[in-house]
Amino acid sequence: MARLVLLLLGLALCASVGHAQNDPKPKPTVFPASPFDAQADAEYLHEALNNNKSAIEPILSRRSLKQRLQIAEKYKSSYGKNLENDVAKYAQNCLFCSSFGHMSELLFSPLPVQYSHHLSKAMVGPGTTESVLTEILCGSKNNMIRNITQAYAERYDGKNLLADLEDETSSDLKSLLALLMRANRSETYQVNAQDVNDDVLALFNNTDINWCEDSSRLNEVLALRSFPHVRRVFHELSRKTGKTITDIVDEQFYFGNKKGFVACVRVMQEPQEYFADVLNDAIKGLGTNDDALIRVTLTRSEIDLETISEKYEQKYGDSVIDGIKRDTGGTYRKMLTAFFGGDN
Ligand SMILES: *[C@@H]1O[C@H](CO)[C@@H](O)[C@H](O)[C@H]1NC(C)=O
Ligand SMILES: *[C@@H]1O[C@H](CO)[C@@H](O)[C@H](O)[C@H]1NC(C)=O
Ligand SMILES: *[C@@H]1O[C@H](CO)[C@@H](O)[C@H](O)[C@H]1NC(C)=O
Ligand SMILES: *[C@@H]1O[C@H](CO)[C@@H](O)[C@H](O)[C@H]1NC(C)=O
Repeated sequence: MARLVLLLLGLALCASVGHAQNDPKPKPTVFPASPFDAQADAEYLHEALNNNKSAIEPILSRRSLKQRLQIAEKYKSSYGKNLENDVAKYAQNCLFCSSFGHMSELLFSPLPVQYSHHLSKAMVGPGTTESVLTEILCGSKNNMIRNITQAYAERYDGKNLLADLEDETSSDLKSLLALLMRANRSETYQVNAQDVNDDVLALFNNTDINWCEDSSRLNEVLALRSFPHVRRVFHELSRKTGKTITDIVDEQFYFGNKKGFVACVRVMQEPQEYFADVLNDAIKGLGTNDDALIRVTLTRSEIDLETISEKYEQKYGDSVIDGIKRDTGGTYRKMLTAFFGGDN
C-alpha cells in the first residue's frame, strides 16, 4: 500500500515537474550574428586595432564564440598575427591590463579550454576554490567533461586532471570529483519514479540524513544520474525534510567540502541564481574577483547570462552592469559590460 502511494505521488510529481520544464527558457545575452562574414570582421578588427579609432567591443561581444574563432582564423591567415594578442595589447587603462589580457585569451578559446583554465586556476597555489571545481564538473555533460580532460592535458603539458583534482581535495569531495570524472552520467531524458524513490529512500530514511558519514550514495546520485532525475530527487528530499537541498547539504559538510557540495547542488538545481550569487561575490565590497567575473561572463553568455542578470537585479536590487562598472575600468569594463548587453 505504502509503495502504491509512493508510486502515485511519484506520478503526480512527474506531472508537476513536467510543467516546471515549461518555465521560460533561460535567456542568453550573446547570439550568433546573422548575416556573418568572418573576413569582413577580421578586416574591421585589424583596422580598429591598428588605428585605434573604432570600438572592438561591439563586434567581439556580438559574435558567438564559434564565430569569434572563425574571425581569429581569418585574422591569422590574412595578417599572420594572433588576434587574441592584438586584442590584449589594445587595452586602455592599464590598471586592468592583466585581467583584460586573460579575458582576451579566453575570448578566443573553445569552452573546454576555458574550463580547463578555470579548473587549473582554482587549484594552483595555496588553497583550492572547491566551488569552482564542482560548478564546472557537476554542471557539464559527459562529452564536455571528456573534452575538458583532453584540453587540460594539452594545455598543461600532459597533466592529468583527475590526478590533480585528487591531490587538491579530500574525503567526500574527492570521491565525488573522481566519480564525475568518469563522465558516465545517464543521458536518458525520461525520469523513472521508482528509481527516484529508491534514491530518495537511500538518502533519507525518514529519520535522519547522514551524508557526512557516508556520502557514497549521494555521490552516485550527483555524478551518475541524469540531470532531470537529480532534480526530482532534490525536490522529493525538500518535500520530505521541509528544507532546501542547499540547506541540507550546508548542514552536512564542512569547510571546503561544504563549498564544493553546495556549488554542485546549486548549479544543478538553480544555475541562474547560483551564478547571480557568484557575480555578486565577485564584485561586492573592496576588490574584485576577476577570474569569477570573466568565467561567468564568457561561459554563460550564450546560455543564460540575461536570466542571470535578471536574477541578480531581483535579488540584489541593483543592475549587474552598474556593479561591474563601479569595479572595473578601461577596455576591460567596456568588454565585460558589452557581454551583458550594456551600451557602455
Ligand atoms: C588607444 O587610444 C587610447 C586613448 O584613446 C590610449 O590610451 C591607448 O594607449 C591607445 N592604444 C593603442 C594600441 O594605441
Ligand atoms: C567535444 O569534442 C568533440 C571532438 O572534438 C566535438 O565534436 C564536440 O562537439 C565537443 N563537445 C563539447 C561539448 O565541447
Ligand atoms: C558506466 O555506467 C554503466 C552503467 O550505467 C556501467 O555499466 C559502466 O561500467 C560505467 N562505466 C564507467 C567507466 O564507469
Ligand atoms: C534510519 O537510520 C537510522 C540510523 O542511520 C536508524 O536508527 C533508523 O532506525 C532508520 N529509520 C528507518 C525508518 O529506517
